[in-house]
Amino acid sequence: MRVDVLTLFPEIFSGYLGQSLLKKAIDLGRVDVQLHNLRDWAQGRHQQVDDRPYGGGPGMVMMVGPVVEAVEAVQARDPTPAHVVLLTPQGRRLDQQVVEQLSARPRLLLLCGRYEGFDQRVIDILQPDEISIGDFVLNGGEVAAMVLIDAVIRLVPGVLGHADSAVDDSFSSGNRLLECAQYTRPREYRGLKIPDILVSGDHGAIARWRAAQSYARTRQRRSDLLDNNQGHTHDQQVD
Ligand code: ADE
Repeated sequence: MRVDVLTLFPEIFSGYLGQSLLKKAIDLGRVDVQLHNLRDWAQGRHQQVDDRPYGGGPGMVMMVGPVVEAVEAVQARDPTPAHVVLLTPQGRRLDQQVVEQLSARPRLLLLCGRYEGFDQRVIDILQPDEISIGDFVLNGGEVAAMVLIDAVIRLVPGVLGHADSAVDDSFSSGNRLLECAQYTRPREYRGLKIPDILVSGDHGAIARWRAAQSYARTRQRRSDLLDNNQGHTHDQQVD
């Protein structure tokens, strides 16, 4: 998968892209992330990319010319057309289903805004997939783009090892349950012992216990997930 990111702050991404799973995916050639500075398409002596809003009001608005021309130029750098995503609090909400849809695309182009948003004509011309990561306002789309990249990249075939298979992830289409509690050594800490079943060696019983735990936790914390949890029946419950 190729991911192009258009931003005024490409350096925000570098530390993150050089870490762990994402670095592995890039090193393996499964993912190619290309950063582009929107200012390279800025106009005039002052390299202006934003201006005051018509009609007045606070803040600055990203200008249509540099943004549209940047997207067109970056699109043309690869023969595979990119699915253009604009990160904005006004977009459809990112969830695991949307992540799954995006991970099936061969190429994404992520457009990160700053200031008070984009000139509406950016949206009219490019017709991007507008995506929000939640009902809160960030200072720009960069962190939202990193969230999206992180979630999408784990679903690209060959990125996660078999042991970390994404099929069991909470919220994936095959599983709309929260994860069960996990434990590692030591077996006892400050008087808190791990559940005996986990050291019983009975793999069937452990799997049933975990499924029941997942279900109970989901019912307690996120019963909304169970309302449309098709195809899952759990007769065993633990409290
Ligand atoms: N840009 C600013 N806030 C955002 C949000 N909540 N989601 C996506 N992009 C954003």
